[in-house]
Amino acid sequence: MTSVLVLNGPNLNLLGLREPEIYGADTLADVEAACVAHATANGFSVTCAQSNHEGALVDAIHAARGIHKGIVLNAGAYTHTSIALRDAIAGTQIPTVELHLSNIHAREPFRHHSMIAPVAVGMICGFGAAGYTLALDALIGHLGGTT
Ligand code: DQA
Repeated sequence: MTSVLVLNGPNLNLLGLREPEIYGADTLADVEAACVAHATANGFSVTCAQSNHEGALVDAIHAARGIHKGIVLNAGAYTHTSIALRDAIAGTQIPTVELHLSNIHAREPFRHHSMIAPVAVGMICGFGAAGYTLALDALIGHLGGTT
């Protein structure tokens, strides 16, 4: 079964508690359960991981080589700052769909720029927790559908 990685960055462990008016009421556990159900229903297996540490996220991308065919990445605030994450995606060449719960382009100017976008397959933002399954659909489609 083809495997994909859903990787969440800093502060996304606080989903459900954190600024719910922006990020919604679903917890990270809710989001991850929805990803597992959705991927499984489409014949894919999914591993979910989260870290607040930039280097750990780089390590997770490197470790995905040979295991996961693609990544759904919500890099949180590192989206806007991390050349290291961008280089990890470019270096591993693992197809990556960038995801944000909020519409980063409708928020503060410092959120408008993404370091990840130029090396991502594409980006989904602004659809809240539903974005995770939309991103999985986009990634699965990019990978050529079912296994
Ligand atoms: C976010 C948007 C980022 O700007 C922010 O730093 C986050 C969450 C989102 O999912 O909307 O932590 O990636």
